[in-house]
Amino acid sequence: MAEKINVAVAGCGYWGPNLIRNFYQNPEVNLKKLCDLSQDRLNTMKAMYHEVELTTDYDEIVQDAAIDAVVIALPVHLHHTMAKQALEAGKHVLVEKPMASTAAQCRELNEIAKAKKLTLMVGHTFVYSAPIRKIKEIVDSGDLGQILYMSSRRLNLGLYQKDINVTWDLAPHDLSILFYVLNDRAVSVNCIGAANITPGIEDVTNLSINMEHHGFAMVQSSWLDPIKVRELTIVGNKRMLVFDDLEQVEKIKIYDKGVDAPPSYNSFADFIFAYRNGDMYSPAIKMVEPLKVEVQHFIDCIRTGTPSLSSGEEGLKVVEVLEASSQSLQQKGVNISLL
Ligand SMILES: NC(=O)c1ccc[n+]([C@@H]2O[C@H](COP(=O)([O-])OP(=O)(O)OC[C@H]3O[C@@H](n4cnc5c(N)ncnc54)[C@H](O)[C@@H]3O)[C@@H](O)[C@H]2O)c1
Repeated sequence: MAEKINVAVAGCGYWGPNLIRNFYQNPEVNLKKLCDLSQDRLNTMKAMYHEVELTTDYDEIVQDAAIDAVVIALPVHLHHTMAKQALEAGKHVLVEKPMASTAAQCRELNEIAKAKKLTLMVGHTFVYSAPIRKIKEIVDSGDLGQILYMSSRRLNLGLYQKDINVTWDLAPHDLSILFYVLNDRAVSVNCIGAANITPGIEDVTNLSINMEHHGFAMVQSSWLDPIKVRELTIVGNKRMLVFDDLEQVEKIKIYDKGVDAPPSYNSFADFIFAYRNGDMYSPAIKMVEPLKVEVQHFIDCIRTGTPSLSSGEEGLKVVEVLEASSQSLQQKGVNISLL
């Protein structure tokens, strides 16, 4: 095995520790430094990872010539500045989702990474999850037929964010799944929602996306729902798939259901829909922690120079939709074209 890759992680809040644990456990990584403004958070990390250096100053990471790669698990408004600094210092970057606060910022980061031949990857965790990979396999096999639409619901009570609305917080997951599974792009977007608790920050939104080749998608996001829901439905003209991420065993169910309209009819009596109510089956999935796969993929991309499955270009596709969703929200749900 080639030399270990020296990694620093910035952000030891809620999500950072999951990345820290996976980088620490990867045999090809030397987790060198952790950064957080909060000394309390650093102390908590120190108790688990004694030999790792700690700092409250992000510049120390960027200026450390021994560090090869920087992982950014900071609040979203800092993603662009911190990722740009790291890339300009010649570090490979894994930045959490959403990649940045605007599409222009994403484009800038992509240009720097390209010019400097560095790996820039976004934390689209679901692209590395076993059930989503299984779903992609099923869709690609043609088992569902032509995809008519996709619907995703990500509801919960909290976690309220201060700098972004619920679409920017939760929908990156649904959007990255959508683009990965369908290998398609959005052509227009509309979004409605409401800011019920914090003025100006929507906590419930309904986003509709028209896709170029695969019908449309509906993404419902909420921090204000009594029940946690993590559900994705993909409706094809042959079969229908439901993914419930909260199910312990049968996470994916495929229903042999459908409706066939009569090709032509002369009278109402001839007009009979044929409803198909066939079997349901649930494919077996070998579960692996998605972050473990994501971390290994980041390391492989750094070593081989191949673009990541959740590259900066994928990050940009997601942020373009998020940006359009905010424009649509401001204009009470008007359709925003992405072309
Ligand atoms: N991929 C996923 O499934 C997933 C899940 C949750 C969160 N996230 C993403 O992770 C990122 C962090 O989210 P979180 O929920 O952990 O937030 P958080 O607020 O819990 O943690 C952020 C941490 O950054 C630190 N920080 C703030 N400014 C700093 C600075 N200038 N320098 C150093 N440290 C600083 C804070 O002290 C805090 O500990 C966000 O981008 C979020 O979207 C991803």
